[in-house]
Amino acid sequence: MSETLAPGEARRLGQRERGDTLQDRNSRFAAGEPLTLRVRRSDDRLAEFRVPYRKWMRVLDALNFIAEHEAPDLAYRWFCGSKMCGTCAVRMNGREVLACWEAVEPEMTIEPLRNLPVIRDLVVDRAPFERKVAELEPWIERPAPYAGFPEPLSHTDMKHASKALDCIGCMCCYSACPVIALGDLTDFAGPAPLVQLGQTALDPRNDAAKVARSLGLTGIFNCVSCYKCEEACPAGIPIVSQVIEPLKAKAATLVPGMAKHSHALRAVVAARGYVDPSALVLRVRGLKVLRQLPRALRLLLRGKIDPVKTFLRRKTPASAAAARLLGRERK
Ligand code: SF4
Ligand code: SF4
Ligand code: FES
Repeated sequence: MSETLAPGEARRLGQRERGDTLQDRNSRFAAGEPLTLRVRRSDDRLAEFRVPYRKWMRVLDALNFIAEHEAPDLAYRWFCGSKMCGTCAVRMNGREVLACWEAVEPEMTIEPLRNLPVIRDLVVDRAPFERKVAELEPWIERPAPYAGFPEPLSHTDMKHASKALDCIGCMCCYSACPVIALGDLTDFAGPAPLVQLGQTALDPRNDAAKVARSLGLTGIFNCVSCYKCEEACPAGIPIVSQVIEPLKAKAATLVPGMAKHSHALRAVVAARGYVDPSALVLRVRGLKVLRQLPRALRLLLRGKIDPVKTFLRRKTPASAAAARLLGRERK
């Protein structure tokens, strides 16, 4: 008989299949058995420590043991110890985790989050994130006075915003995002600031002009929908499907210029049945591409673009279906 999964349980299925649940991990050790922790210190070296296992031990307990017995100068951050404040996020064996929630493993490499400056050891500077959030002005501005009290507001109206309200600001998603890792190459705000913005921008009571102003500062169409952020989120927020995609839809309506690349991609696929990279670049950049002739030549030599296909407007047999699916069926 097939197993019925509770909402949010699907992501745990793989863990169960691999025998990697919290229970499995904890049953692997006997009390007092040594665990090996390699911790990235400020001078970039990996310092190795042995920590005796105790029942239900979490990564944070192991770090506390090290700070109490072996390295009192180890810098790491935590506050609530119960998955509420988001301050204890680190990377364990290359994966973003909450130290206060993650069960220990026999061998662990603990490193600070990526994409944020390191202050010391495992402590990162959250200022770039906080500055971006402040710049996005994530609050509600009412276009008209309250209609009265209580104000009608349904679950459906709030379905996206309420997902974003579960955010604990841990920055795991920000650390996992490959577009943020590109640094200044894009103006992308990143998943964590977008989730903060989503709390009010996806609230139907907010003023559309105010939401458009905020969205204009996000570079949201740089998001490549790779779902890395969603996989990393310890709060289980469907960041892409319930926050970023609805925000993109809002941006496409309220700030049409922002969605130029997406509209061009849709038009190219609808017309030809496949993604023609040179047709896409021509649509987005127009004659400005002439300024990048050496680059175009390199792409041509590597077989990445095919001007013959582009200029002859070659179609594949999928073009009719693509046009129909994308709502651009031609008579
Ligand atoms: S889906 Fe978008 S925001 Fe999330 S990790 Fe990928 S690029 Fe970053
Ligand atoms: S969206 Fe999830 S991963 Fe990102 S900051 Fe909020 S709780 Fe952390
Ligand atoms: S210490 Fe608060 S979430 Fe881990």
